[in-house]
Amino acid sequence: MRRIHVIGIGAGDPDFVTAQAVSALNDTQVFFAMDKGPRRGAADDLVAVRKLICDRFITEPRYRFVELVDPPRAAAGDAPGYRQVVADWHAERARIWAAAIETELGPDGVGAFLAWGDPSLYDSTLRILDKVGEHVDFEYDVIPGITAIQVLTARHRIPLNDVGEPVLITTGRQLREHGLTGSAVVMLDADCSFQQCPPQTRIWWGAYLGTPDELLYAGTVGEIGDEIVAARAEARTRHGWIMDTYLLRSAD
Ligand SMILES: C[S@@+](CC[C@H](N)C(=O)[O-])C[C@H]1O[C@@H](n2cnc3c(N)ncnc32)[C@H](O)[C@@H]1O
Repeated sequence: MRRIHVIGIGAGDPDFVTAQAVSALNDTQVFFAMDKGPRRGAADDLVAVRKLICDRFITEPRYRFVELVDPPRAAAGDAPGYRQVVADWHAERARIWAAAIETELGPDGVGAFLAWGDPSLYDSTLRILDKVGEHVDFEYDVIPGITAIQVLTARHRIPLNDVGEPVLITTGRQLREHGLTGSAVVMLDADCSFQQCPPQTRIWWGAYLGTPDELLYAGTVGEIGDEIVAARAEARTRHGWIMDTYLLRSAD
């Protein structure tokens, strides 16, 4: 039976790769990589980190990379439309992945997908693999990785939750639509949506976490919100891309 590892590689620093991930990397014959095309400025840097991880941790290199061409994704306006567009796109990707698994892996071959951070968090690999199973037989396992959230809280040396309190993990769009109650981690936010929170809201912000370009800011939205907006815009222009994550706690 073909086997697939879905390996969380941590969100930035190759030192985040776990011993379990190293075993799975060394067990892999074919790494399947998504070709994100020119629309993703981060693509080159992120592919470079993946190659660096393979070079560093694989002791007897017998592996190869296979690029999977990403199907084009139609634009969608409203939320229900968006879900359908994503579902169609995942179905198309599943067909492409299934064909690649069948062609590139022998009957007992071992393949892997490397997921940034942890595969369970804002990552579609597991959803798509579930659909791939409709086309081709294989087994798969999941190796957890260090998420951007864990790097953020470690760098700021803070607990994620207040004592006995919940934490919401959400997106910039959801924060703008629903506002903040208690604590929330915000990811995938191109618009500095924290600016809509009351000025006394506390914020712990981090960009390029775990990399040599890491940026960190902590304070209240009123005190440092503008500084974050300016630093983010400057860094984004300089690098051509940015990934940032932040924790918010409402003042009351
Ligand atoms: C598609 S999600 C993937 C999250 C990933 N699976 C994880 O476990 O962290 C991408 C978002 O994660 C956050 N992110 C990932 N890596 C980051 C990093 N090194 N520094 C800051 N934010 C990061 C950003 O909010 C980015 O928009």
